[in-house]
Amino acid sequence: MLKLLLLLSLIACKIALSASFCHSSGVSSFRSRSGILLHATKSDDSSSATTTTTPWTLEQLQEHALQEGVELSISTLGPGFRTVARSTHNSSAILGYGEGFVRPNGDILHLDKMEVFSKMVKQARRDNPDFRGGGNTFGVGLLFGYQCLLHGAEQGCKIAEFLAIDDEDFQHRRLVRFYSRSGFEVIKYIGDDFQDIPARMVWGGCGTLMRANIDDLLPLWTQILSKSKSTQ
Ligand SMILES: *[C@@H]1O[C@H](CO)[C@@H](O)[C@H](O)[C@H]1NC(C)=O
Repeated sequence: MLKLLLLLSLIACKIALSASFCHSSGVSSFRSRSGILLHATKSDDSSSATTTTTPWTLEQLQEHALQEGVELSISTLGPGFRTVARSTHNSSAILGYGEGFVRPNGDILHLDKMEVFSKMVKQARRDNPDFRGGGNTFGVGLLFGYQCLLHGAEQGCKIAEFLAIDDEDFQHRRLVRFYSRSGFEVIKYIGDDFQDIPARMVWGGCGTLMRANIDDLLPLWTQILSKSKSTQ
């Protein structure tokens, strides 16, 4: 019953959102240049990564982040969650955040927003000579993203879904490229068409729907983050 109510209120709120259609949804995402991470993942053999790397626990992740100058936290409300990355040198400097919820049927982690504030990251770099932030601007995104994934896994989610929003404020193609390189698979484009209405109701906008198995993503991201550690 509770699940049904949650689902209904979710749908109601998404109808309100999807009325605004594309290019105006106000949903935000990674804004910064994605070029840097690309070389970190160029080898692209995610299959071997999944067999050789053991994912970090939450404690290991948080400890790694602290060494990089990033403090991670998470707050939850019902099925919803938000992870926040802050500078260890200034707790009011928010470097980025990830937000989403566990879908009512319980096996999908729905990632709504993944945003990195590159100005704050630059500031943190100036304030803290030891700041590494996961290796680069997108490293911060992987750090709080990792905590989102761990939360999903803990809640029993097998799959993570993310909509790379196609909004004129965002560089949609870069988002898609970034998430493809970090282990997400492109499922389909959710557009303005009539048949995409249900998907728009779920996501509140247009964009490219991307999906990944959490069990595959965690070892891959562990490898990317440890690589950034060893090269700096
Ligand atoms: C901490 O960060 C906030 C937000 O950027 C900034 O306004 C404040 O001046 C910073 N504090 C210090 C001590 O640097």
